[in-house]
Amino acid sequence: MKALGKGICSLAPVLLLWPAVELSSTRVASSPFLHNSPSLQGQATMKLMAESFLAIEKGFADGDVVAVAEQAKLLCETSSGIAALKLEGGKKDFAERQEYQLGLAALAAQLAALKEPGQLPSAALVLHDIRHTCVSCHLRFRDGNEESGLFPAHDNTIQGAVRLRDMSGAERKDRSGVVVFLDQVVRPGGWPSDARIPKIVQADMDFQPRVLPVVRGTTVGFPNEDNVFHNVFSLSKPKPFDLGIYEVGETRTVTFEETGLVRVFCNIHPKMASFVLVLQNPHFAVTDAEGRFVLTGLPDGEYTLRSWHELGGGTTQKVVLRDADLHSADIDIQETRKSVAHKTKFGKPYRTKY
Ligand code: HEC
Repeated sequence: MKALGKGICSLAPVLLLWPAVELSSTRVASSPFLHNSPSLQGQATMKLMAESFLAIEKGFADGDVVAVAEQAKLLCETSSGIAALKLEGGKKDFAERQEYQLGLAALAAQLAALKEPGQLPSAALVLHDIRHTCVSCHLRFRDGNEESGLFPAHDNTIQGAVRLRDMSGAERKDRSGVVVFLDQVVRPGGWPSDARIPKIVQADMDFQPRVLPVVRGTTVGFPNEDNVFHNVFSLSKPKPFDLGIYEVGETRTVTFEETGLVRVFCNIHPKMASFVLVLQNPHFAVTDAEGRFVLTGLPDGEYTLRSWHELGGGTTQKVVLRDADLHSADIDIQETRKSVAHKTKFGKPYRTKY
């Protein structure tokens, strides 16, 4: 993740006032989700974040985009402020906590920029991601979260870890890049696409990220931030495309209308590969290096939880959720392929190595 400057929220950081902040809302103070944090600092900042979050939700309920944007700005300041302050500098896992806070700040900044009434559907997706970040961090770092409630989770949550075995049966250390998702979730009017234009960057002779799940209808940007030319293409059925050769600094885009797997390669550099998994709904997550994933905001119901991995062995399991369940799902993947062999855009083997 890129380092975020102070200016990310485009307002003076509210945390300059911290920790002398007066917490006005009794709603948060009396919330059943609050448990006695061992750290007063943690309590104060979290209450601040929780206040903004609740106000954002209220703004949504009222259809008040301006209120949503204002509170999102506050949330951005708080989270980027926490990240900058290194409150818990001595603490184990500090870098990881900081990543969560920076991620949260970036999302809050995105939400703060959506000020038009027509942007509410996009804003809802950003809110979903914000909630996901809060809950993921709580599951990771907040002791005893099971008992204290997964604030600010709504409805049900699925969490778990993926284990990966290669063809020889050996366990992989790096378990990142597995997509875990719910198959076919019904929603009246269908699911909105993601208007934020997620990116797959060409850098250091590679695609980053390597795995990108998106909701159907989403446009993906392919910026070239490398110091060489690339030719991004795909021969995959849901969306064959060829972006041609383009220079450093240029971005070309592709819109993915059909669900399915789109394998993306470079016609010049055979080692470059990326996978766009086009899904029916936004209930998906990509595992981290330890294989962990979290899905939040799931209404009661019976679902099919699926996993996908570039080397095969994806799994399917039924999950029944009700009453704000925290469901744990462990997933074992036995790979079925050694590599992602592929050909050039002309269907021929690559002639050059690089
Ligand atoms: C960096 C990880 C992280 C992120 C991101 C995070 N939290 Fe927390 N949160 C914690 C931890 C850890 C605690 C337990 C308190 C402590 O020890 O600091 C906590 C506690 C809380 C509490 C209870 C405070 C108390 O008195 O115990 C609330 C409310 C809360 N968080 C809300 C939120 C909301 C809302 C978001 C997202 C907008 C969020 N948190 C994002 C780590 C995080």
